[in-house]
Amino acid sequence: MKEIKLVELPKIPDYRGNLSFIEENNHIPFKISRVYWIYDVPGGESRGSHAFRNSEEFIIALSGSFDVNLHIGREEKKFSMNRSYYGLFVPRMTWRTIDNFSTNSLALILSSSRYDENDYIRDFDEFLTMMKCI
Ligand code: TYD
Repeated sequence: MKEIKLVELPKIPDYRGNLSFIEENNHIPFKISRVYWIYDVPGGESRGSHAFRNSEEFIIALSGSFDVNLHIGREEKKFSMNRSYYGLFVPRMTWRTIDNFSTNSLALILSSSRYDENDYIRDFDEFLTMMKCI
């Protein structure tokens, strides 16, 4: 099984403004099937308390900051995302919650699959059972 990984992306510094980029199967270990973004998050709100049966994701704080909380059964890890040249690879079967959004933050998420509600595990106890933790 692939592991959670914080990836430093290329950054081309330039006095006209910096530039970063992502290539599939290079900086991220999957083919991109979908891109979505989360924005205009009201203060104190959280998003995405779920896991995916099969989808892999790559999360970037394109603007502002937020925390990605990952749970892989017994272990919990928090990643504070606040640089647009870092991305977080989230393997399948990882419970993830995104919170602590700053004003005007923009979360860009690349996914290995198209949207499919059947791929979601939205019940934390079900997730723990599947991970054989309860
Ligand atoms: P969801 O993934 O549950 O949001 P979050 O986990 O961030 O709280 O998606 C919210 C709604 O948007 C849900 O009804 C499904 C829909 N949706 C799509 O139609 N396509 C997509 O690519 C995504 C991510 C969500």
